[in-house]
Amino acid sequence: MENLNNILEEALIEVNKASSFALLNDIKVEYLGKKGKLTLLLRNLGSLSKEERPKAGQLINESKQKLTIAINNKQQQLEQIVLQQKLTSETIDVTLEGNGQDLGALHPITQTTAKICGMFQSLGFKVESGPEIEDNYHNFEALNIPKHHPARAMHDTFYLDADYLLRTHTSPVQIRTLKQWATSGEESLAIICPGKVYRCDHDQTHSPMFHQIEGLFVAKQTSFAELKSLLTEFIRNFFVSNELKIRFRPSYFPFTEPSAEVDIEWGKNPDGSTKWLEVLGCGMVHPQVLANVGIDTEIYSGFAFGLGVERFCMLQHGINDLRQFYDNDIRFLAQFK
Ligand code: FA5
Ligand code: MG
Repeated sequence: MENLNNILEEALIEVNKASSFALLNDIKVEYLGKKGKLTLLLRNLGSLSKEERPKAGQLINESKQKLTIAINNKQQQLEQIVLQQKLTSETIDVTLEGNGQDLGALHPITQTTAKICGMFQSLGFKVESGPEIEDNYHNFEALNIPKHHPARAMHDTFYLDADYLLRTHTSPVQIRTLKQWATSGEESLAIICPGKVYRCDHDQTHSPMFHQIEGLFVAKQTSFAELKSLLTEFIRNFFVSNELKIRFRPSYFPFTEPSAEVDIEWGKNPDGSTKWLEVLGCGMVHPQVLANVGIDTEIYSGFAFGLGVERFCMLQHGINDLRQFYDNDIRFLAQFK
């Protein structure tokens, strides 16, 4: 019994120092467990005299109570600390800006392609497509560009091997579609073919991958005048402008005769003269091309054109470097929502 106060004091100090639930539990067992220090004192009450027993029992029980209360308090303290740690580590700063949900948009080139195709579709042209990996025959030979023809140098071609290449223009789709049409028995053919084309080119108005839309019309009666008025009307409608300066410039393609390229006014040169941007090539389909796919050139003739979608998109939006379309800068692209 002389030890009672020392035991209690020692226990309370330990409880005070306990820094975890495990340590606190050890203390509980050490003092209040079955073989705990205070429990043993109670068990030994029998060795005291009858008179001493009640007083001693009361003192021991009081100590047990004090210790139990101290342990419970400590338990609550530890729970608070754990809770605080959890709250701090899981903190959500409600003053931060949200991530938001940005809506994407069609790429400007996709938008311009759709706009141009829609305009020709409304005139009755059907949309066709062809492979991006082409062979020499469709990309060159059937278009009247034999091997070693100087015109091959106009296309800086990416070759895959001796036979296959990345198509340098959408004109091979003309050949594929003409072949089918030649045996179809239909009166006329009016198609447009949008798609990616590839050339080893890279500057302000050229990129190694770009988009063309091919147009082809074949019938019993066609003329260059018709081609010229169709393209002029198309350009005026596309830019919604009658003032825009357009120029048909005589040119050369092995698969059309006569041929022209169309330029559109693109600002002024320092000397005040008009600056032009070439947007398309066109012409009357060369009879040899029709003959190559078995069409009777005494009966049928046709005209064709191939336009650069990036160039139309540049002029439409006042963009002066075509390579911006492919930098994937979100600040640039977001302007076309
Ligand atoms: C052709 O590719 C011919 N196949 C067009 C054609 C079709 C003529 C049918 C006659 C009949 P050209 O190489 O000029 O032609 O290219 C056509 C257009 O594609 C150009 O006017 C230009 O607008 C665009 N273009 C050409 N190269 C690039 C390039 N590297 N990057 C972006 N646009 C280009
Ligand atoms: Mg050209």
